[in-house]
Amino acid sequence: MDKPKFYITTPIYYPSGNMHIGHTYTTVAADTMTRFKKMTGYDTYFLTGTDEHGQKIEQKAKEAGVTPKQFVDKIIAETKDLWKLMNIEYDDFIRTTDERHEKVVQKIFKKFYEQGDIYKSEYEGMYCTPCESFWTPSQLKDGCCPDCGRPCEKTREESYFFRMSKYQDWLIDYIETHPDFIQPQSRANEMLNNFLRPGLQDLCVSRTSFKWGVPVDFDPDHVVYVWIDALSNYISALGYASENPELFNKYWPADVHLVGKEIVRFHTIYWPIMLHALGLPLPKQVFGHGWLLFGGDKMSKSKGNIEYPAPIVSRYGVDTLRYYLMREMPFGADGNYTNEAMLTRMNSDLVNDLGNLVSRTVAMIEKYFGGVVPAPNAEEEPDKALSEIVEKQMNALQFSVALSEIWKLIGDCNRYIDITQPWILCKSEETMPRLQTVMYYLAECIRAIAVYITPTMPSTPAKIYEQLGLTDESLMTWDSVKTFGGLKAGTVVKKGAALFPRVDVKKELEILNPPAKEEEKKPEPKKEEKKAKAEEKKEEPKSDDGYVTIDEFFKTKLIAARVIACEKVEKSDKLLKSTLDIGNGETRTVLSGIAQWYAPQDMPGKTVVLVKNLPPRKMRGIMSEGMLLCASDNEGNLKLLTVDGGEFAPGSEIG
Ligand code: MSP
Repeated sequence: MDKPKFYITTPIYYPSGNMHIGHTYTTVAADTMTRFKKMTGYDTYFLTGTDEHGQKIEQKAKEAGVTPKQFVDKIIAETKDLWKLMNIEYDDFIRTTDERHEKVVQKIFKKFYEQGDIYKSEYEGMYCTPCESFWTPSQLKDGCCPDCGRPCEKTREESYFFRMSKYQDWLIDYIETHPDFIQPQSRANEMLNNFLRPGLQDLCVSRTSFKWGVPVDFDPDHVVYVWIDALSNYISALGYASENPELFNKYWPADVHLVGKEIVRFHTIYWPIMLHALGLPLPKQVFGHGWLLFGGDKMSKSKGNIEYPAPIVSRYGVDTLRYYLMREMPFGADGNYTNEAMLTRMNSDLVNDLGNLVSRTVAMIEKYFGGVVPAPNAEEEPDKALSEIVEKQMNALQFSVALSEIWKLIGDCNRYIDITQPWILCKSEETMPRLQTVMYYLAECIRAIAVYITPTMPSTPAKIYEQLGLTDESLMTWDSVKTFGGLKAGTVVKKGAALFPRVDVKKELEILNPPAKEEEKKPEPKKEEKKAKAEEKKEEPKSDDGYVTIDEFFKTKLIAARVIACEKVEKSDKLLKSTLDIGNGETRTVLSGIAQWYAPQDMPGKTVVLVKNLPPRKMRGIMSEGMLLCASDNEGNLKLLTVDGGEFAPGSEIG
């Protein structure tokens, strides 16, 4: 009988710099899932790759004095090396610059155009004539071109647009009737409430202002813009619309697309609509996982808060990092990454719990039974339900829960040693039969543990099997641990090196994150300076002078927020309802009395100033969560305050 199929993908990564621990997180999760599915009897296919087109790459290549292709080739070679280092076993690595991909994108684009899903119109943006570049408001520097510093002008560019709104009702119905399609469920609600129900806008799908993209074959001034190019990778890699669609016929629809929470929208709105327009079935699930945060912020190059995997892997081994990534935070939620937490977990879970259990058990079998695993004299078994529990959690992509269940067994085994006290049992002939049972129980549990951790920590089990003296591969399968007692009495164990190195956390942290050198440290203020500061503080006006104190002022939380959608509020001449991106993947709805001065279609793309900590207020039946700051003149005309000139990410604090 044919095995059931399992097709899993990661997003395709932008090769604008080296991949960091954040990218590694998604890739390790996909690899872990693939290995688990393979072990539980599936015919798996795991796709990853790179998203190589666009103005940003074109720009970076120009700065580096190389062609865009040369620029990305180097990063892709390094990315593939990193995936090797991380023990990632993908089946295919798709590049959007592959000919096989570009051809499919062109076919898809043409089909959409011919069937009327795509139409030609105009895109409006800020244009720098000398550089021949369009910039979004957030890319401008003080309203000027970020490249040459010259002023930009509002200009229109001919573009193709996809009629997203045509499919909106169908998609709402699909999401409502397929509760597993978007996971975790909260992300489905977000898509429905923030994007689909308020109404979709048509999507700009081609550009003429840069060249680094897939050319539209029937209109060569245009290149395909971002999402049609990027999302199609999931089917172009399988040979969709090519002479060889075998893999496509076998594996599509995908079982799960793993994506970070900020790109859930593209995968659960644009992608399903594209597939539906092509007459193809939708992926069974899109799982939006959380972010690895660093000091409470998303790890990213522009913020300079990046950790790379290589130094960690070279010091503590690949399985330490894989374990930590999968164990530390529930898949779906955000979590802080710190080297300290990673090292502390390594010392406790890997060195103390797992490493010790293996070395103690092997040492005791050597000492009490000359290294030969004894036959048990009584039936003693751990909780039979463990394999089912682990399977259930892994199938739900709840890696951290599955690992914590496995670690419960490890903890139980260590406690079992402390309770049964083998060092006492060995002292009398009468208790030797009991000691045999105890030792067999431990060795057999360790075999099961090695099997259970294989998907997450693929290089550790071999080391455990070697110490257990296990060579029979049929005892290393998922099925083999469903029943207790597979390990043969008489197997000869052999003590080996410690599975994981115990480290001095403080010392390691100094190596991984060296403290700033003396001269770089901020000098302590001198005594006189301290005194002057204290005087200044004393003289600070109090609020009853008509002033606010600085502390009072900062109680108001002002942040930059990007408008992602906007519409008029029904039956109101004044109010506009804006959906705001406030950073970290969060959105907010805010009503503002600005309809007289702003048309809803002018709002998306603006980076406005939001008062974040006002209590929510219901107006016209809609909950408004905050307020947009405006300047007003003598006649009461309003103008929104924006931070459009700078490189401000949504969520940036103002003040
Ligand atoms: N190219 C697009 C995806 C197109 S898929 C058709 C893209 N690329 S990306 O390189 O910016 O991000 C790729 C993935 O890495 C995203 O899912 C993103 O969420 C994930 N991560 C990047 N930084 C991350 C963290 N700090 N933490 C967790 N995941 C992170 O988006």
